[in-house]
Amino acid sequence: MNISAIILAAGKGTRMRSELPKVLHKIGEKSMVEHVISTAKLAGCHNINVVYGYGGAQVKSKLSGANVNLIEQKEQLGTGHAVAQASPMINKDDTVLVLFGDAPLIKPETLIKLLEAKPENGIGLLTVKLSNPFGYGRIIRENGEVVKIIEEKDTTESIRLIKEGNAGMIAANASDLSRWLGMIDNNNAQQEYYLTDVIAVARNEGASIVTAEPGDEIEVLGANDRIQLSIVEREYQKRKVNELMLSGATLRDPARVDVRGDVSVGNDVIIDINVIFNGKVSIGNNVSIGANCIITDSIVADNVEIKPNTMIESSQIGERSSAGPFARLRPNSVLDEGAHVGNFVEMKNTTLGSGSKAGHLSYLGDAQIGKNANIGAGTITCNYDGAKKDKTIIGDKAFIGSNTSLVAPVSVGEQSTTAAGSVITESVRDFSLAFGRSRQETKVNYWKK
Ligand code: UD1
Ligand code: CA
Repeated sequence: MNISAIILAAGKGTRMRSELPKVLHKIGEKSMVEHVISTAKLAGCHNINVVYGYGGAQVKSKLSGANVNLIEQKEQLGTGHAVAQASPMINKDDTVLVLFGDAPLIKPETLIKLLEAKPENGIGLLTVKLSNPFGYGRIIRENGEVVKIIEEKDTTESIRLIKEGNAGMIAANASDLSRWLGMIDNNNAQQEYYLTDVIAVARNEGASIVTAEPGDEIEVLGANDRIQLSIVEREYQKRKVNELMLSGATLRDPARVDVRGDVSVGNDVIIDINVIFNGKVSIGNNVSIGANCIITDSIVADNVEIKPNTMIESSQIGERSSAGPFARLRPNSVLDEGAHVGNFVEMKNTTLGSGSKAGHLSYLGDAQIGKNANIGAGTITCNYDGAKKDKTIIGDKAFIGSNTSLVAPVSVGEQSTTAAGSVITESVRDFSLAFGRSRQETKVNYWKK
């Protein structure tokens, strides 16, 4: 069985009050429609069609690399009309799964359940028992069988009491669905062609409707406004932090850790509050991450300590090394095994060799630092002359005195020392001591007693 997905993403999302089309609002790091696309793929859809309309250029550019067919719905005349734009593009023998671009929490296993529920020539319909069904289409059953759906705006008082709501997702044969879509009209409160009307149409043809339910109601929550968006975000974050905890991390407060990407953790990781992970982050075993750290696209090895208020981006943190508090590791920073970078040290495109330390108040940019070197407080690599960036190379066991300015390109050899306060403009050979400052002069008895 070939399964084609049709993802509806054309609506403006008036309730968002935004220039951005609703489906491009983000959950975690990804737009809602991209979440739905990933889930459809995981559920086995081989062909994914996204119906776009409002903010079309933005949706198209966002999805240009997503390997999906994009179908324009020029006017947003309703969910049924939207599906009808896509159905001519779909192989007649396929099963179609209709999904909503604004319901990103749906799980692949629920979609698989829905596909399994679909009778041979009927409709699989995802419904959900809701504590508060306001806003949802209501499922009308006769003798237990679904006969139609009535949209909130078309309900009467007695129908509003029905707690079973339409999740919005259906599965049907492509050929049946396109025939049924040809039979619906827009005689309703919103003068829209409702996808939900295919239920009554199919039923009149004698087709059966079989329902499936999601694991819980939150899975089908649509984010129509920014309050719902925040609820969906929180639910998504709960899933992500639960994954971290089940993989071996203690979160001091899971409600105060955000995962905006894909994070893997080893065993015995401890994560304090207000930590944000972005993009792809891999954390080893026995790592502790202090409060207020932001870690983006980085790899952290085993037995590392990241102290509070540290920012790490596109960097590699080696085994038994430590960073922070208040360290900033910009892209391409590497801490080798056992290295330490301390407070108010900024690194960029720099490797700090194994056992080396930069404890305080430094800027280390475009530098290659050997093993067991000591970088004194206030060391600055002057890596930029206004036109180009140059490299600083520091050898093993070098001792860079406090407040040294290293004017790149420059190197300091193995086991060499620079005197505190030096401006080093010429490279220093191995085993040397370099002074780059004027000698102190003292006028004795300058003041008369
Ligand atoms: C829809 C269902 C409702 C269900 C609810 C579940 C219909 C008529 N109603 O209502 O029964 O309980 O979802 O969340 O299907 N869209 C288009 N083109 C259009 C109109 C909408 O692509 O012309 C897209 C929207 O971008 C959105 C999705 O279809 O992603 C659903 O539309 P929305 O307006 O949010 O429908 P609801 O009122 O939530
Ligand atoms: Ca919706």
